[in-house]
Amino acid sequence: MNIENSREYYGKVLSGSDDLRTDACCTAEAPPPAILAAMINVHPQVRARYYGCGLVVPQGIEGAQILDLGSGSGQDAYILSQLVGEQGSVTGVDTTPEQLAVATEHLEWHRQKFGYAAGNVTFVEGDIERLDLLDLPKGHFDVIVSNCVINLVGDKASVFAAAHGLLKEGGELYFSDVYADRRIPANLQNDPVLHGECLSGALYWGDFQSLAKAAGFADPRLVTSRPLGIGDPAIAAKLDGIAFHSATYRLFKLAGLEAQCEDYGQAVRYKGTLAGSERVFDLDDHHAIEAGRMFPVCGNSWRMLADTRFADHFEFFGDFSHHYGVFPDCGIAIPFASDAAAQAASQAASCC
Ligand SMILES: C[S@@+](CC[C@H](N)C(=O)[O-])C[C@H]1O[C@@H](n2cnc3c(N)ncnc32)[C@H](O)[C@@H]1O
Repeated sequence: MNIENSREYYGKVLSGSDDLRTDACCTAEAPPPAILAAMINVHPQVRARYYGCGLVVPQGIEGAQILDLGSGSGQDAYILSQLVGEQGSVTGVDTTPEQLAVATEHLEWHRQKFGYAAGNVTFVEGDIERLDLLDLPKGHFDVIVSNCVINLVGDKASVFAAAHGLLKEGGELYFSDVYADRRIPANLQNDPVLHGECLSGALYWGDFQSLAKAAGFADPRLVTSRPLGIGDPAIAAKLDGIAFHSATYRLFKLAGLEAQCEDYGQAVRYKGTLAGSERVFDLDDHHAIEAGRMFPVCGNSWRMLADTRFADHFEFFGDFSHHYGVFPDCGIAIPFASDAAAQAASQAASCC
């Protein structure tokens, strides 16, 4: 399956979220208040063609330069536009003319709605597999987001590599996508509906880890994950038991990250100063850092806080001068772990 199928599916087959046949391109999470408030300000025609599978709004983005890969009709771009403020900017890239037309038609409407003297959003037609062909500045972006798009792309390695090149040191790729619990057989990959519904191009989560690391993102961090329901019986039958999750990852571009979490006896204390995260800062799904509390961290988590835009919001205790071995209890979080845990729990329960 290729870009032609994406253009056909998102330009011609679908005319709005109600036409979707599965919940793969839907967002189930309830947005936090600041994101909800920003979402309500987005034009209804833009919102009607939203096909994202997660929330791609990381913390602390005021003033940030953001790139949105596969920006569609622009909902995330217009939410981010409000949260980065007038000093920040959002550039959206998409390949489907119909999606871009909706996004660009409402540029001026949003500028006025947000009360900005000059617009801070730009949409560019392009193929995210060939980001090298677009005139995007290297090492420039603070954050790259993408919402339910990379699964649609054939050459996923090229997207991760290009994103790494476009990010600043300390920047992050923060994106939601669909993952499978196994590799998808070739016959399913070629099914236009399964591809368009963001299922048959989904990466097996283990291959995602390898691709991300090969592109230079040494320590992918899972932020959220949820199982996808395939309500359409015909589609479920074709999928033959493959399980899917929608997951949000954050991949920091940090040269010093190590292959695994190492213990240097370090700790951080969150100051509670990030808007919308005053009580707890969630670095990922297993680092909920309460404000004011000493929080032991591995060397990689330290760098994700000390060498990024988050540095001013933390106090840092320790350094890298003494190594104490592998950081305890720092396993890799994977999208399907909760399913395995739930299954084990239900099996244990049924034995009693
Ligand atoms: C599931 S929709 C998500 C759109 C948007 N991110 C959202 O949340 O509404 C997938 C989008 O990816 C775009 N797309 C697919 N392949 C692409 C490619 N190779 N380059 C750029 N955009 C692509 C499609 O045109 C479509 O707008």
